[in-house]
Amino acid sequence: EEHFTKTQRLAGKKVLITAGPTHEAIDPVRFIGNHSTGKMGFALAERFASQGATVEVVSGPSTLSSTHAAIHVTKVHSAEEMLEACEAKFDNVDIAVFAAAVADYRPDTPAQEKIKKSNNTLTLHLVKNPDIAATLGKRKKKQFTVGFALETTNEIAYAKEKLHKKNFNLIVLNSLKDQGAGFAHDTNKITILDHDGSSTFDLKSKQEVANDIVDVVCKKMGL
Ligand code: CTP
Ligand code: CA
Repeated sequence: EEHFTKTQRLAGKKVLITAGPTHEAIDPVRFIGNHSTGKMGFALAERFASQGATVEVVSGPSTLSSTHAAIHVTKVHSAEEMLEACEAKFDNVDIAVFAAAVADYRPDTPAQEKIKKSNNTLTLHLVKNPDIAATLGKRKKKQFTVGFALETTNEIAYAKEKLHKKNFNLIVLNSLKDQGAGFAHDTNKITILDHDGSSTFDLKSKQEVANDIVDVVCKKMGL
């Protein structure tokens, strides 16, 4: 009976998940990116779908995909494209999870042609990217929103700051202190913070971490 309840508890709910890195064009053949693989976002998508939800994943460049009938993936390259895709879906969802590692800056005007090698130094001029979570956080109504944070100092304080600034209901702090946690690893050690308190979990596989996050989301939503 517990199994039945758990598999049906998100029936009828729609979830938006951002996943993966973003790539910001320098010229037609080069970009600024990061080491995010999209594993966390796609693991969350599978778990939400297994609980009965319909999931829209907006993913930056990633080798991952899903065959689950309830998971629809929109592939994008840049932060601006990711924002545009998310804006088209956000008003329609019940839950939004911002798991993407969005590039904070992009080259202001990508070169039209491949940049030729010349001087000993090359300066790129970068401009700030839109903050997808903060932009959507400003216009949220019914949506329950979840953010991620990865910090190297003042972990809890910075995570709490992001929780408030981006109007999240929950923020998942990824701890880098433990071996095998973070980017490109299959395991994560997380602390989940909300406006009332926090709970810390053991080092686990990303799929198990996704299960824990979905459990907390359901509990906080009263589902
Ligand atoms: N995020 C986003 N759009 C951005 C930057 C971040 O949606 N342009 C989201 C991430 O997906 C994550 C949360 O905001 O859920 C926090 O991302 P993080 O990079 O830790 O925070 P920043 O606000 O970018 O601050 P900083 O990198 O300086 O710590
Ligand atoms: Ca950032």
